[in-house]
Amino acid sequence: MTSPHASLIRALPKAELHLHIEGTLEPELMFALAQRNGMTLPYTDVEVLRAAYDFNNLQSFLDLYYAGAGVLITEADFYDLTWAYLLRAKADRIVHAEIFFDPQTHTDRGIAFGTAFNGIRRALDDAQLQLGISSKLIMSFLRHLSEEAGFATLEQAKPFLTRIDGVGLDSSEMGHPPSKFERLFAACRALGLSCVAHAGEEGPPAYVWEALDRLAVCRIDHGVRAMEDDALVARLKAIRMPLTVCPYSNVRLKVFPQLADHNLRQLLAAGLCATVNSDDPAYFGGYLQENYLGCDRELGLSRDDVLQLVRNSFEASWLAPEEKNAWLMECDAVARSYPA
Ligand code: HPA
Ligand code: ZN
Repeated sequence: MTSPHASLIRALPKAELHLHIEGTLEPELMFALAQRNGMTLPYTDVEVLRAAYDFNNLQSFLDLYYAGAGVLITEADFYDLTWAYLLRAKADRIVHAEIFFDPQTHTDRGIAFGTAFNGIRRALDDAQLQLGISSKLIMSFLRHLSEEAGFATLEQAKPFLTRIDGVGLDSSEMGHPPSKFERLFAACRALGLSCVAHAGEEGPPAYVWEALDRLAVCRIDHGVRAMEDDALVARLKAIRMPLTVCPYSNVRLKVFPQLADHNLRQLLAAGLCATVNSDDPAYFGGYLQENYLGCDRELGLSRDDVLQLVRNSFEASWLAPEEKNAWLMECDAVARSYPA
């Protein structure tokens, strides 16, 4: 079956708010970078590597994801990685992207913070000029590491902070609650950084409460397990807290058995500011537009749901109010030109 609203979805401008740049490393580029850097991968070819992308849970994905990032050595590698994503973003009509990078994944291998940062930053700046894609950059702390390690990373980031828009929290969720990073996030807020955190992906609703109350986040990444707690849903609705939902990711990491079981429509029906995002598209089998099309097909989204999701993506973004309003008006204009 095709997606009933495919042409509307393709035409609408979109913001992507939950995208790990290391998660856009396609097997072809991984092999090319390994060769460029004189490294040998433990896979004979891209098909064998792709076949290994058969995950049981978040951790089984993270193990391959961190290993794959090992081919990123030079600033040019980070530039090429980011540029490849931005070209795909352009094809999906993403006009604004808020991108995570995981500095500790690289600094712990002896790659300088600035090497990763400069390569990514330069591609984002070029995309603004050459592709008309605006962006924000979010430095994400690895929650399986200590808070002290996070503080050391924040220190390394200090020379670059004028070009970093916010901080996030990712990696292995279970056993690493947001409260572990309360002092680090307070320090980040004091530096003027916006805060987001992965919570309620595999972890319980209590982790979402902690992200709100102890980290003062302005978005929850994933958050799908919030639906298990009515009081939490009421709170998220009351403060219109955005959730950056990643449907294909949730299926590939076994949060939901299949896309048809995903709770995206329930999140919308509960009045929450849910958005659609791709998370780690090279590993999960679909970029942003595929996530929209898949949900449309498998969940039976209404035309209003589709429009609400793209509008939410701009509302939840860190664009300035006048930029948000301009994109919201463009969404409405496109929707009017695709009548039901
Ligand atoms: N969850 C936690 N950590 C991650 C993810 C995710 O979905 N993607 C990349 N790092
Ligand atoms: Zn993520």
